[in-house]
Amino acid sequence: MKLFIEKDYDALSKRAASILIEEISKKEDIILGLATGSTPIGTYKELIRAHKEDGLDFSKVKTFNLDEYIGLDGSHPNSYRYFMDEHLFNHINIDKSNTHVPDGKAEDLEAYCKEYDRLIEESGGIDVQILGIGSNGHIAFNEPAEELSLGTTVVRLKESTIRDNARFFNSIEEVPKTAISMGIGSIMKARKIILLASGKNKAEIMAKLLKNDVVTTQIPASLLKLHHDVTIIVDEDAYSE
Ligand code: PGA
Repeated sequence: MKLFIEKDYDALSKRAASILIEEISKKEDIILGLATGSTPIGTYKELIRAHKEDGLDFSKVKTFNLDEYIGLDGSHPNSYRYFMDEHLFNHINIDKSNTHVPDGKAEDLEAYCKEYDRLIEESGGIDVQILGIGSNGHIAFNEPAEELSLGTTVVRLKESTIRDNARFFNSIEEVPKTAISMGIGSIMKARKIILLASGKNKAEIMAKLLKNDVVTTQIPASLLKLHHDVTIIVDEDAYSE
């Protein structure tokens, strides 16, 4: 596991983007696993900058997002499809038909989840997966639990996650209670994984993750220790414990 400790959020974003830019430059038809949330926004801004100023080409890039709230369609401002369009896809030359965000309005959710994993496999598998981390240690919406799903699945959000994410909604009542999430196995199949953590509210979980030489499903991110190519990028606030 490689660890970068950056001065602040801006430096963290630049570091993450520079790794992605290098990977995209090496492989024009790269398959990226993308994340939503506050953390990757700065990284996406840097990618947009690299596209506009340096001509970074996304025309052959494919993307798969980690998760989506159940019940929200892509036109809902709190959906992750909307987030991705706003924060990245609308500003680069990516073909929207190459971008995949789970469909929160899918009718047969179980069949849809299987299909999502099949689509990832069929595309050749994820080359580089970007991850944030929840304050409770979740990755995607794989919440701490006795058992974790390997494949993409329907998950019930923990109260702590609903509280964390309420800041994006008008009220906590509006936060969906369920989501579609890529499973731990789907994530671990990525060839390269980059986990980002920024801010003091991530310091406690990052200390637990980095200090202990153990894995536990109670900290889903700890399972990443079993992966052969993980880069963790933190800022000083997230590393302060
Ligand atoms: P955040 O979310 O980037 O908004 O902190 C991370 C996560 O919950 O995975």
